Amino acid sequence: MERDLTRPEFDRYHDRIYQLAGIHYPAEKLELLSNRIRRRLRASKEPSYDAYLNRIQQDGKELQAFLDSVTTNETYFFRCQRHWDHFREQLERRHADPLHKRDPLRIWSAAASTGAEACTILIVLQQVLGKGFGGVTVEVLGTDLSGQVLEEARQGVFRPYALAQTPPAIQQQFFTRNDKGEFVFDRALFKHVQFHRHNLMEPLTAPRPFDFVFLRNVMIYFDGKSRERVLQHVFAVTQPGGTLIVGESESLLSVKHGFQYVKPSIFVKPTGAVSPTASPRPSRAC
Ligand SMILES: C[S@@+](CC[C@H](N)C(=O)[O-])C[C@H]1O[C@@H](n2cnc3c(N)ncnc32)[C@H](O)[C@@H]1O
Repeated sequence: MERDLTRPEFDRYHDRIYQLAGIHYPAEKLELLSNRIRRRLRASKEPSYDAYLNRIQQDGKELQAFLDSVTTNETYFFRCQRHWDHFREQLERRHADPLHKRDPLRIWSAAASTGAEACTILIVLQQVLGKGFGGVTVEVLGTDLSGQVLEEARQGVFRPYALAQTPPAIQQQFFTRNDKGEFVFDRALFKHVQFHRHNLMEPLTAPRPFDFVFLRNVMIYFDGKSRERVLQHVFAVTQPGGTLIVGESESLLSVKHGFQYVKPSIFVKPTGAVSPTASPRPSRAC
């Protein structure tokens, strides 16, 4: 299939992707979407766009490959330094408070991609709390819709691109190089992160609420309705007083949500808010 999607085909794919993942492809992205689907058409040997659309309705494995191909997965360590400065300050404040310094910490990297964000979280935690996190129980959860990026994330091995904004001293302290020139993340730290598949359009089952949620650079692909839905699910599993960090270009101005604004792209769940320990319905395919 050499041609791009026609407008009716584009609309059918748009609706399916929106229904599955909350992702909104604007009409000007028709060419991009056509290219992405064309790769799957070739790999699956389906003769037409409509035949492929049928196929993903019936074939769960191909559906996953389709979702992998329509998501954008760019990520790197220490993306948006301002966020990491805020995270560090909050951790330091907590660490200085004798009443709370030993409290367990739960942190969610909610669109984790290949894991650079979750591993940056672990680096900052060790920098502030010390080796072994000074005895504090730490759990970091990384989730994503794409099975392909999660497979990579579970390796804890990164291409040089992901480390381009990481100071050399941190590269040396927290990584070793393998024979392909890739960066292998510190194995002792890496055991504190778990990666699971989770669709942000669904509620997450969390045994305990999170103190910090990083929900960055994913809502740019959602429309207002999807954003609202995601934020509702995130709110349900955030600890009152817990922090939500969104991507720098992700405005929540016209979106209904229960978080309080702290500073650009940083929010807090009001301490008076009720935080259920688990969401009402389980997440799909974790
Ligand atoms: C651009 S990456 C952001 C990675 C990281 N948070 C960062 O800021 O560097 C966006 C990620 O969101 C994931 N994603 C898209 N739609 C999703 C959904 N409905 N549920 C969960 N993850 C989703 C994609 O698979 C992709 O890995």
